[in-house]
Amino acid sequence: MRPSELLVALAATTLSTALAAPTTVPRDVNANAAACSVDQKWKTHSGKKYIGVATDQGRLTAGQNAQIINDNFGQVTPENSMKWDATEPSRGSFSFGQADYLVNFAQTNSKLVRGHTTVWHSQLPSWVSQITDKTTLQSVMTNHISTVIGRYKGKIYAWDVLNEILDESGNFRSSVFYNVLGQGFVDTAFKAARAADPAAKLYINDYNLDSATYGKTTGMVSKVKAWRAAGTPIDGIGSQTHLSAGGSSGVAAALQSLCAAAPECAVTELDIASAPTTDYQNVVKACLGVSNCVGITVWGVRDTDSWRASSNPLLFDSNYQAKAAYNGICSVI
Ligand code: G3I
Repeated sequence: MRPSELLVALAATTLSTALAAPTTVPRDVNANAAACSVDQKWKTHSGKKYIGVATDQGRLTAGQNAQIINDNFGQVTPENSMKWDATEPSRGSFSFGQADYLVNFAQTNSKLVRGHTTVWHSQLPSWVSQITDKTTLQSVMTNHISTVIGRYKGKIYAWDVLNEILDESGNFRSSVFYNVLGQGFVDTAFKAARAADPAAKLYINDYNLDSATYGKTTGMVSKVKAWRAAGTPIDGIGSQTHLSAGGSSGVAAALQSLCAAAPECAVTELDIASAPTTDYQNVVKACLGVSNCVGITVWGVRDTDSWRASSNPLLFDSNYQAKAAYNGICSVI
C-alpha cells in the first residue's frame, strides 16, 4: 500500500470508528478498584464453574450491587427470597416475587444460580414447625420441595435441598423434620428434589465444616457416604465457611475430606471477620486444590449489607470499593 492509500484507509477507519462509537461515556472498568473479575479469572485459569455472591431484589435494585455482580461475579444465591418463610408463608399459598426477580436477573445476565434452601429449621413458618403428624409433614415437605424446585426447573445450577440438619457432633439436629419424620426425611427430600428438577445438582449444606477432624465434619462425611451408598441422590456437600479471622488454616484439609464423599462440593456462604487477605486466599486455594470443588459463593457484596456487618467480613467496603482481600484473590487465581 502506498503512503497516500494508507492515509485514506486510516482516515476511513477513524471515521467509521467515530461513527460507531457509543454516545455515552463507557463505565470505568476500575470504578470499584477491582484488580480483576475474580469469576472470569477463576474460570479461565482453573476451569472451575463460578465465584459468586449472595444477593436479592432489595440489594440488586440498590447502590452499585448489580453492577459489581455483573463485572466481577458469575453466580448468585438468593440470601433470603427462596426460604420457606418467603415462599410458602401459609400452607399451599406460595409467593415467588422476589425469588423470580433474582432468577430473572441471573438469566438476563448469564449468572448461575444456587437455590437456597428448601428444608431448614430456621426461617420456617410456625405452621410447619407445629405439625406433629408424620403423614401431614411428609406431604407438606415434599409438596414444598416439588413446588419451589419445580418452578425454576432448568434454571438452577444447584440446590441446597437440606440446610443445617446436623449438630456440632455430627448427629441430627433436633428439628420438626427429624423429630417427626426420623432420618428418612433426608432420602425423601432428596428424591423429591431430583424428581422436581433432574438436572439440578442437589446439595446438603452446613456450617462449621472448617476442620477435617471436627465431629460435625466427620459426621457429615460418613453420613453422606452412607446415604449415597443407600441410593439417596446427593450430588454435593456445601461448606458455608463463615469464619473468624485466622480461621482458615483447616479449610483445605476439611474440603479434601468433604469433597471425597460426594461427586462435587462448594464453598457456599463465605465470609471472614475483618476479611484478612490471607484467610480469603487460603479458602480460594483450598477449593483450587480439590478437583471437584466447583466454586465459591461469598455471602454478600459489601460489608454494610452483611448479616455480620459489624465484622466487616466481605470483599467490598461500604463505598462499594474492592478491599485488599478481593484483590488478594485476584493474585492467587
Ligand atoms: O423481611 C423482613 C422484614 O419484613 C422485617 O421488617 C425485618 C425486621 O427484622 O426482617 C426482615 O427479615 C429479615 C431477613 O433476614 C431479610 O432481611 C430477618 O429478620 C433476618 O433474620 C434475616 O436474616 C437472614 C438470616 O439468614 C436468617 O436466619 C440473613 O439476612 C441471612 O444472611 C442469613 O443467611 C444464613 C443462611 O441462610 C444459612 N446459613 C447461615 C446464614 C447466616 O445466618
